[in-house]
Amino acid sequence: MKITSLILAGIAGLGIAVAAVAVPKEMKPFVPVSQAISAKGYAEPGSNNAGKNDDLSTPSWSQCESVTSMELECYEKPCSAPDSDCAPGSSCSCDDVLMKINKRQAPSAALIAAIGNASYVFGWELAGAATSQAQLRYACANIVALGHGKWAAVGLISGYITAAICAASAAGPNPEEAAKQIIPYYTNIFITQILNSFLPGQGDTTIWLCQHLQADLLDGMGFQGQHVRDVVCAAAGFSTTPASEDPAPVVDPGDRGSIVSDASHLYAYELASSATSTAQLTSMCQNFGKGFGTTDLARVGLVAPEVASVICGLSAPLSVADAQAFVTEWSTQIYIIQLKAAGNADGWLMYLYANLYAPAMDAVGLDGGLVKGALCGYTKA
Ligand SMILES: *[C@@H]1O[C@H](CO)[C@@H](O)[C@H](O)[C@H]1NC(C)=O
Repeated sequence: MKITSLILAGIAGLGIAVAAVAVPKEMKPFVPVSQAISAKGYAEPGSNNAGKNDDLSTPSWSQCESVTSMELECYEKPCSAPDSDCAPGSSCSCDDVLMKINKRQAPSAALIAAIGNASYVFGWELAGAATSQAQLRYACANIVALGHGKWAAVGLISGYITAAICAASAAGPNPEEAAKQIIPYYTNIFITQILNSFLPGQGDTTIWLCQHLQADLLDGMGFQGQHVRDVVCAAAGFSTTPASEDPAPVVDPGDRGSIVSDASHLYAYELASSATSTAQLTSMCQNFGKGFGTTDLARVGLVAPEVASVICGLSAPLSVADAQAFVTEWSTQIYIIQLKAAGNADGWLMYLYANLYAPAMDAVGLDGGLVKGALCGYTKA
């Protein structure tokens, strides 16, 4: 067995659930994502005409076409983000994701926070699904070999992935411990997303969120629910967090299932994005076929057969642009369900739909138009 297939056999057993992050819409191919939207039965782009921000959130097809022809370009500028590949104050190469994400303006602090937390989630998921301490030690020392240098390009900060794996390598694989470690990072991603989903400066919206986000529902989705409410209420100007105004509810098992399934797709594309050859993909697929890593993935909260079906369905390595588009799409699908399920007030969905602001969501790595379209669909269901 060649060293590359040994590495791949290792990766195939590792779990990743990155709950956020990719690149703004300007930098990704539009067509595959739009096809996936239709296939899932969400509102078509342009079909949601009732909300007050629609003119800003639903790009026309001519805009979409000009986006499709846009190329990623290499360029250099001073670094503003922590990354082992890119020390603050030094110059970034064209491989640095944060610079690729937006070559016209520096990435926002919110986007960097979302990427940073997603990278820790990814690292802990990898750590939790590893099959031996030796594998963890190998991954700690060889993160570039493990991801074939592609994870940073897709939208993660390799220094944080490494930090989580190296921390876990002291004790050996422990999926339950990893799942516990992930919770605060996962919570931070949701906080960052929800605080950047509306028109900036709309204090009323933040107050409304503070009053109606349900800690019990957030807990039921694996967040630190009270922490979400504390941060959102502080952002709304409250010195102490008022109690939720709505009765304590339970998360719909269907919503929980959707999140796990979407997270499994996200994981599959993250995993597949590391492959640089068809042989590496074949090796990943065969290892899943043998059940390698299946138990660990379940304990980390992912569905191994769904992961396998994505990986085994790919016939060629993903380009960075395609991988980014898939990561954006599945991160967005996760957020759509979380947002829908985070409150149960009368008019929750309608208020969200009317006030969501797509460009703000785009700027934290989501597909804002997709979120708005989906919420529109829910209000009509
Ligand atoms: C995670 O998110 C929080 C909240 O936005 C932020 O303060 C923190 O810096 C982020 N962590 C990383 C590693 O980027």
